[in-house]
Amino acid sequence: MKKTRVYLETFGCQMNVADSERAASALHAAGFDLADSSEAAEVVIINTCSVREKAEQKAIRRIGDINRGRPDDAPIIGVMGCVAQLEGELLFESAPSVRVVIGTGATERIPQLLRRAEEGLGRVIDLGERRSETFEDIAPSERHSKHVAFVPIIEGCNKFCTYCIVPYSRGRERSRPANEIIGEVRKLLAQGFREIQLIGQNVNSYRPKSEVGLEKFSGATPFSKLLRAVASTGMPRVKFTTSFPRDFHADIVKAIDENENLCNWVHLPVQSGNDRILRAMRRGYRVEDYIRRVDAVKNARRRIALTSDVIIGFPGESEEEFKDTLQLLERCRFDGLYIFKYSARRGTPAAKLSETVDESEKTRRFLALEELQMTIQRKIYDDLVGAYVEVLVEGQSARSAADVTGHTSCNKVINFRGSPGLAGKIVNVRVTGSKSHSLYGEVSNVL
Ligand code: 5AD
Ligand code: SF4
Repeated sequence: MKKTRVYLETFGCQMNVADSERAASALHAAGFDLADSSEAAEVVIINTCSVREKAEQKAIRRIGDINRGRPDDAPIIGVMGCVAQLEGELLFESAPSVRVVIGTGATERIPQLLRRAEEGLGRVIDLGERRSETFEDIAPSERHSKHVAFVPIIEGCNKFCTYCIVPYSRGRERSRPANEIIGEVRKLLAQGFREIQLIGQNVNSYRPKSEVGLEKFSGATPFSKLLRAVASTGMPRVKFTTSFPRDFHADIVKAIDENENLCNWVHLPVQSGNDRILRAMRRGYRVEDYIRRVDAVKNARRRIALTSDVIIGFPGESEEEFKDTLQLLERCRFDGLYIFKYSARRGTPAAKLSETVDESEKTRRFLALEELQMTIQRKIYDDLVGAYVEVLVEGQSARSAADVTGHTSCNKVINFRGSPGLAGKIVNVRVTGSKSHSLYGEVSNVL
């Protein structure tokens, strides 16, 4: 019998990428084939994000495009991820071509759900919870990269920031057993991966039910113990994202200082530079507390790159309060910044507040913040010219066939002359030029 071909399309964060990898592995194991395009598949699954309205609309538009592209042989369409979890049955009404709805806890059950849909059993929906706290294996061939692997360590979120939908779409925090994480990292090392990224909505809130696997490692928190445990596997590069400021213990910086393979990059979303707004967002820290964390990062032995997220136009944000965010940028001098316009998400406490910042004002604040960030970032990138950086080569550059591309251990994109054969190698590169979002360099030596 011919195998059913499934095409998986992923929007959103690294957790969605990891979920798609797991779904693809489960589908393969259950006898499905994975297709390279939606046109070549009998089943199309869209893995969706609902963190902002725009992300949600993008996924819904994509479903429309797929239908229009194949008027005569419509594929079975499935929706997974955050939109699936939040909308549930409603999706069948708002997007009638959708046949399968797969909640965020149902990734492991995708093969059975698709079989039911194939049998023509009408609409199929699973919004149930994950059945076990262990994670299924991901086949190396289904990873998004041959050299960098995402390793989820905590799912969900308990923070309930007032603007955020994630606690509703992904449920409460669940930490993965440490010995399982360490086992996966060892396996990835044996498979030839050179970098892993520990991922989770708040990695530093990691709190497993037992500390089996961490006994031999010191640390002020389970997360810093886990960092030391993962570093001890000998994986050449270890990154982690995202960190939550309130739980960002200085011991994390100490662990980075002690272990060369813990990369010099921290992503620490601040969201606002104003205390009243932070309180209204229910972030659980003040600007002063945040700055203390930043100083700990900046006082590390190695220079640790620091990136952040901010939201502008939160309901009631005044011009003065916005200016506090500008000021915070000057103080923290981030290596990179994601700026988001506030987007009301139904069901969150902030969505009940009346929106006071109109779209054109949001745009003005966005541009002002971006301009300042660009000035700061240009200087940081310019100052790297002449320095030597360690780079994991990921493949040929999209811009030029003569160049390869990769990330520095401080997580900056860098391009340089080199053959595609360098992919998967860690090289020392001298930085020779800079733009606002990337560096250019030349190989000094292959490590
Ligand atoms: N509106 C705008 N940005 C948001 N984020 C989360 N929720 C919203 C929202 N409702 C941003 C935060 C978070 C990032 C992943 O997305 O800055 O850190
Ligand atoms: Fe959302 Fe706040 Fe949780 Fe981050 S910490 S996922 S912003 S609720």
